[in-house]
Amino acid sequence: MEIEILDARNSKVITKCNVQSSTTIKDLKSSVYAANKKLNVHRQSFKLEVKGKTLKDSDTIESLNLRNGSKLYVKDLGPQIGWSTVFLCEYAGPLVVYLWVYTRPWLFYGDTSSSAEISQTAHIAAACYTLHYAKRLLETIFVHRFSHATMPMRNLFKNCIYYWGFTAYVAYHVNHPLFTSPSTAQVYASLAAFLLCELGNFSIHINLRNLRPPGTSVRKIPMSDSNPLTALFNFVSCPNYTYEFGAWLSFSIMTQCLPAFLFAAAGMYQMTMWAIGKHKNYKKEFKEYPKQRKAIIPFLL
Ligand SMILES: NC(=O)c1ccc[n+]([C@@H]2O[C@H](COP(=O)([O-])OP(=O)(O)OC[C@H]3O[C@@H](n4cnc5c(N)ncnc54)[C@H](OP(=O)(O)O)[C@@H]3O)[C@@H](O)[C@H]2O)c1
Repeated sequence: MEIEILDARNSKVITKCNVQSSTTIKDLKSSVYAANKKLNVHRQSFKLEVKGKTLKDSDTIESLNLRNGSKLYVKDLGPQIGWSTVFLCEYAGPLVVYLWVYTRPWLFYGDTSSSAEISQTAHIAAACYTLHYAKRLLETIFVHRFSHATMPMRNLFKNCIYYWGFTAYVAYHVNHPLFTSPSTAQVYASLAAFLLCELGNFSIHINLRNLRPPGTSVRKIPMSDSNPLTALFNFVSCPNYTYEFGAWLSFSIMTQCLPAFLFAAAGMYQMTMWAIGKHKNYKKEFKEYPKQRKAIIPFLL
């Protein structure tokens, strides 16, 4: 049978394909690329309707109930960039920016030779910031098994502005010559909470990695394992986000710094939106999905 593939922007025919019931969306992407060399397979998003949801590469003509003469729409996602490249850029920036401001460059603070020494808390904060982003970089390279090869190039600019900008804002205040540290008890208690949340976040990333065989995009229901820090999976779908927020909240309390609280709040807002979406998808995808789980905050949300 033959199906028509149309451009989602103007409904013009890109190509017509002879297909079988087992033909996948991935096969059709190659046909579109053969017909239009500008549209490499990573730029294409296939849909049943112009504004419909993106079909999976593994969907087949049969599973989509397509017949002779059916139409499919392709949206051009624009120039793409490697998924890992985006993460590496967005996480390397904060390391460089934070450590640069930490050295109190003349550019930000003027001549600081007569100012007080950098406080112990600012030293600890710099170590925490470095640990967090070095961990994220290493996880991107060695731990995560992403299902997508690329993402739209504009994400690179958006994400880098967000992470680099917030880092400069936080670092400027925590390393300021007039920074005053909260009490030692507050600093060390928050440091302990920060480290625990980082370890929890790492444990969840390892657990997610082990769900997916190498080289596949298989998705499964995540479950807690022998590591007690993964027990949060019994309460929420995205415990890595819960721990991430916990880490930034702890950092904010440790430094008692408003820009750090704002960064924690912005991250929490974004992660809550994503967690709600992921939680809904889990419930739709897996009939047996644990009923008691919430999205990101145990018992609440
Ligand atoms: N501070 C902030 O503002 C902020 C915001 C967001 C994230 N982060 C940090 O970045 C980390 C990663 O974020 P993310 O949004 O990429 O996390 P994520 O969606 O939970 O994914 C982490 C990894 O696990 C895989 N994965 C997720 N669910 C899976 C399942 N059911 N079966 C198999 N594999 C699965 C993902 O693959 P896929 O490629 O298939 O998704 C990805 O490789 C977060 O945990 C957090 O530490 C920070």
